[in-house]
Parts: sequence; structure tokens; C-alpha cells
Amino acid sequence: MAGAILRRFYKSINLTRTGFDIAIVGGGIIGLTLARALRKEHADVAVIDAGAQIPPATNAAAGMLAPSFEGAIACEDALYAFGARSLGMWQEFAADLQDESGFSIDYRADGILGVAFEEAQARRLAMEAEALNARGGAVELLSGNEARRLEPALSEKVAVTLHAKHDAQVDPRKTILALRAALAGNVEQLSAHRVECAVRNNSVYSITLDNGDYVEAVRLVIASGAAAGALIKGLPPPPVYPVKGEAAAFAMPEGDFRRVVRAPGAYLCPKMGGRLVLGATERDGCSDYEVDDAAIAAMVANGAAAVPAIAGYREIERWAGLRPATPDGAPILGHDCRGPDGVFLALGHYRNGILLAPASAAALAGEILGHGPAAEIAAFRPERFAQA
Ligand code: GLY
Repeated sequence: MAGAILRRFYKSINLTRTGFDIAIVGGGIIGLTLARALRKEHADVAVIDAGAQIPPATNAAAGMLAPSFEGAIACEDALYAFGARSLGMWQEFAADLQDESGFSIDYRADGILGVAFEEAQARRLAMEAEALNARGGAVELLSGNEARRLEPALSEKVAVTLHAKHDAQVDPRKTILALRAALAGNVEQLSAHRVECAVRNNSVYSITLDNGDYVEAVRLVIASGAAAGALIKGLPPPPVYPVKGEAAAFAMPEGDFRRVVRAPGAYLCPKMGGRLVLGATERDGCSDYEVDDAAIAAMVANGAAAVPAIAGYREIERWAGLRPATPDGAPILGHDCRGPDGVFLALGHYRNGILLAPASAAALAGEILGHGPAAEIAAFRPERFAQA
């Protein structure tokens, strides 16, 4: 393709800049999964990641693959269907990625339990179960005793649970490491480089990095989450804003419980090797990485109401991450026809970045490679905000 020709040309005249078919700005799970999908179609790809300058939201995520629990404000049916589609892709994606990288990513398809302690919460779970099953989900309501047979660590005060049998989880940090390893040698990974701007000239994007270097590419994908901003001359900034989430990890005796438990005000995600991830706050528009002690203490109390043992676990880490949110809670995917040709957006996955990575990558890779607009992302096109 054109990028390969450019690259050979620059090498032949000994210039340090290099040309690619496709450059992806953003090395979180969305950018890397897309790079992998494009590489499988033999595209010549570079991923430009800001490294510690802009930590990817992926590293802050708990890794729930939970279409049954993560709703949206608008686009609800489309988002649910897209989430369910992506959940269905995860098993194969995880197995292939583990083979390609040699790394375990701790994928577990053992369901998620949403718990209720009292009448009003139980009524809400019953309504959610009905709505999910009407959409083709596979959830069931369990009594407290039935749920405790699955997870004996649940409190006696748990009265009802929504059991989403097919929802799953994975370790996002391990997934990023596995993706980087799988792409090594196949995809150029430029780390710790912030993109200053990208300008299109003669059908090629020139992407200027903060150290003065630049990369050229025929097509450009913006997958830089809440940091997307105004990178491209001629393209209105996409409406993506940060929603901060604070979380913490605890050392837990492995085997205390296995499934993700979602309680009012906290979720608990037990990981391989005796690590429990507890999350997460929602702070709209905050773009700092401070962690509030009181917020963590409240989540521990809320989590311990569902699984009392966690009150005795030792904290090993706390952090904050920035979810890339959009005005309607759904991602922004595809070519933005208000901007120049050859630029694609893969942004705004908000609370669902880990879940949606395989489906977003598959749909976008086809479009970027010229296979036409993908029907499954019709509801997530960038132009919907211009029309609003
Ligand atoms: N998906 C969970 C969260 O964003 O906190």
C-alpha cells in the first residue's frame, strides 16, 4: 500500500521520519485492538501513544464485560446490541491474544451478580431483568440463598440478585501488555510521544510529535480517549470529555469469591493471583488523577455490605482514571464526514471500552480498509452530534 512505498522511500534517502498506511493516535485497548485487526489484513500500521503523559483509561478500568449492567442515556438499544455482539467476540479474542502473546489476560466468563438488599432495589433488578431478556439477554433473578450457593461469600443481607450468566471479565492491564507483545515486530509502536497536530497534504497526513519528529500516514485514526481534542486541522473537536473514576485494589485470599459482584455504590472484581479491584466513582468533567480517601472508604463500606470479608482485606493500590465520555454515553466511531478524507474516530467508549474493543476494532478496520460503512456502528457515527 501507499504507506509501505513511503516508508521504503524515506529509508532509501535515510530520513528519520517514516510513512505508514495507517497511523493510530492512542495506545489504549481501542487503539491497540484496532492496530491488531488492521495488521491481520496486512496494513502497515503505527500506533502513537503518549505513555505516562496521558495514562490510558484502559489501565484504570476494572475489566468488566458487562452489557447487562452498563446502560447509556441515548442509543440504548443500539449500544446494548453492540455490547452483546462484542461480548460474543471476547472468548475467541482472548484465546487468540493469549496464543499470539504468550500472556494470560485472565478472561473469565463466569457471570456477574448484581445484588439488592431491600424491596425497592429488588424491584429495580426485576425490571432490569425483564428489559434485558426482552432484548435477547440471558439473565435470571436469584434469591439470596440461591446466590449464596454460587458465591458463599455474599452477605446474609443480600435478598435478591440479578445473575447475568454470560457477562464476563478480563484483566485490562494484562490485556494491554498482551496486545503490545502480540504487535511487537508487526506494528510500529511509538511510545511516550504526544501528538501536537496532524495536517493533510497531497492525501498524506503529516503528524507532528512533541519532540519535533513527525510521522506520515495515508489514513489517520484518533483513538486517544478523553485527550482527543483538536488534533486535526479542519475537523471540529469531537465531543469527548473526561469522567473521572477512582478505584482501589486489595489483596484477597484467592478463592474467597470468583464472580464480579455489583452492589449499590460499588463493584467488586476478583482477579487472578488474589487481587480484588473495587470501583468506582463517577466525577463528571474532572481531569485530575487525585484520589479522595473518603470516596474509597465509602466504596469499601458499600462493597462490604455485599461481601463482608472485603472489610478485612489489605489495600495494595489506589488510582484514578479518566473515562472518555460523550453526550449520549455511546462511542464515536467511523469517518467524520465534516473533516478531511482519510480520518477516522474511535473514541468515547466511556464505561465500556474493554467490552467494546473487539467489536469496535472489527467494524472500523473494515471501513478504514475501504470495505464501506459498517452497519453495526450506524448509531455511533460522529455526525450525530452535528445534527443534534
Ligand atoms: N465500566 C465500569 C466503570 O466505568 O467504572
